[in-house]
Amino acid sequence: MPPVRVAVLASGGGTNLQALLDACGPDSPARITRVVSNNARAGALERARRAGVSAVVLHDPDDARELLAALADAEIVVLAGYLRLVPAPVVARFARRMINIHPALLPAFGGPGMYGRRVHEAVLASGASESGATVHFVDEHYDRGPVIAQRTVPVRKGDTPETLAARILAVEHELLSQVVLDLARRLQSEGEIQ
Ligand code: GRF
Repeated sequence: MPPVRVAVLASGGGTNLQALLDACGPDSPARITRVVSNNARAGALERARRAGVSAVVLHDPDDARELLAALADAEIVVLAGYLRLVPAPVVARFARRMINIHPALLPAFGGPGMYGRRVHEAVLASGASESGATVHFVDEHYDRGPVIAQRTVPVRKGDTPETLAARILAVEHELLSQVVLDLARRLQSEGEIQ
């Protein structure tokens, strides 16, 4: 059975993309077949090049037609540190086939503008004793789609946004890889993702 074709959208350094590239080996049910970015300087593009994966830089991330063309061959789409809102026609085309990783326990600490350092600053300011990572289906709103999986991470005394981010990032890599492989297996065996 051929592996499920996975496209990854990334705006930044791409360590989550790298975790997926490392997890999708030759016998894996999933294969990363395309990387798409809105940022020509994204480190994720260099990771794609090193892995021999075709990459596209969008001229206009708000243009649904351009994004659909870049994702034409994909069966699953993963947002891995993608900072732009996905146009509604693209969300509709990949209903229950598009997922996002967020470095907090959604629905808390999510939504417009809640990305990167700001997320962890807000968690620390709240006095929460734990944070974590969430993988969810993407809908028309930032960080609002149905949750697929979450993993909690303790907040430690003396944490800074950087130390908390690093502890969560390691968990994101594991969680995202597990979810993508699981969704690919379900797509292979059931032909759909319920
Ligand atoms: C991760 O923390 C992810 O949860 C968030 O953006 C960051 C991306 O990091 N959406 P990287 O580019 O995968 O290293």
